Amino acid sequence: MQTLDQLTRPLRDLRISVTDRCNFRCRYCMPAEIFGENYQFLPHAEILSFEEVTRTARLASQLGVEKIRITGGEPMLRKDLHILIAQLSQLEGIRDIAMTTNGSMLAQKAQLLKDAGLHRVTVSLDAISASIFRSMNGDKSSVESIMMGIEAAQDAGLGVKVNAVIQKGVNEREIIPLSQYAMAHGLTLRFIEFMDTGNTNGWKLDQVMPSAEIQKELSKHYQLEELPPSQLGETALRFKAGDAELGFISSVTKPFCGDCTRARLSADGHLFTCLFAANGHDIKSLLRSDMDDKQLAARLAEIWHFRNDRYSQIRSSATHTKPEMSYLGG
Ligand code: GTP
Ligand code: 5AD
Ligand code: SF4
Ligand code: SF4
Repeated sequence: MQTLDQLTRPLRDLRISVTDRCNFRCRYCMPAEIFGENYQFLPHAEILSFEEVTRTARLASQLGVEKIRITGGEPMLRKDLHILIAQLSQLEGIRDIAMTTNGSMLAQKAQLLKDAGLHRVTVSLDAISASIFRSMNGDKSSVESIMMGIEAAQDAGLGVKVNAVIQKGVNEREIIPLSQYAMAHGLTLRFIEFMDTGNTNGWKLDQVMPSAEIQKELSKHYQLEELPPSQLGETALRFKAGDAELGFISSVTKPFCGDCTRARLSADGHLFTCLFAANGHDIKSLLRSDMDDKQLAARLAEIWHFRNDRYSQIRSSATHTKPEMSYLGG
């Protein structure tokens, strides 16, 4: 069954946040002064069980979802995550299971997750410089430990992409070192424009490094060969550079809402039809009621059908409170 939203976009991807906690404090996501000791994270009872997540994903797959991405917070903080991956990998119609991670626990867990059925990981790495990386992640991790995680993921046979958020005045000097690292290791690296997610990261337009500027800088060093989109709703404009693939995710300067096929499920069971939606739809209460699968699937279809989000295209006129990315996932 194909469900289209108000802008005729099908539902293809479900991004599932499994925890709102993280062991990093990246300034653009969880600034330490806000996400400190007294910050109220979700209580255990509010968080969906693996069975509840899997049921939602199974019904979503009946509506067209083919790709699942596990996110957080940091998803590997969720106990026994491999069990959830194993459950999801049994679902008919799901052809791709990926996970977005900071990579700090990947060295120990890559093989277990791969064996459970995970296909790919996307690891965030914003700098090669030890001091810049530490200052960006709230002094929580070294570059080496993330690189070890990336290597372990490659060795385990997982597909690996690297995401780097580039902010003016913070890490624009890292563009070339990150590209060199990607080329030396045959990795896909995507540069992400700093976004106005949530309400706490102090976003200002003049801190956004436009993808066009990054591309110009890269062109001075490398021959970039543009690649065609590999799928509907692709977020990145992609280029081949030596053995690496370099991409640009330009949510600010070139919004890609037009073919956005992504729904997001928060760890506490709210379904968001946009990364910047003011509210999510409470699925947890339905999962914990006596609703049967047919009724629940119909409710999910109805939510998608009424969707008309296109935040990145209307950013400057929006005034609502937005969900934190650590809560909703990337
Ligand atoms: P694959 O192509 O499946 O590997 O995934 P992807 O292109 O969606 O990339 P990924 O999941 O790694 O997302 C990369 C980053 O792009 C996220 O961390 C966000 O910063 C941004 N992003 C992803 N999806 C959206 C979206 O729907 N809207 C906006 N504005 N940004 C997004
Ligand atoms: N702007 C752009 N990307 C962000 N991420 C987190 N916060 C932001 C932001 N404000 C990215 C992380 C990671 C993924 C979860 O989202 O770097 O790659
Ligand atoms: Fe954690 Fe990722 Fe947010 Fe950094 S960007 S604080 S690693 S969830
Ligand atoms: Fe999709 Fe919302 Fe992102 Fe636009 S801003 S691409 S509608 S999630």
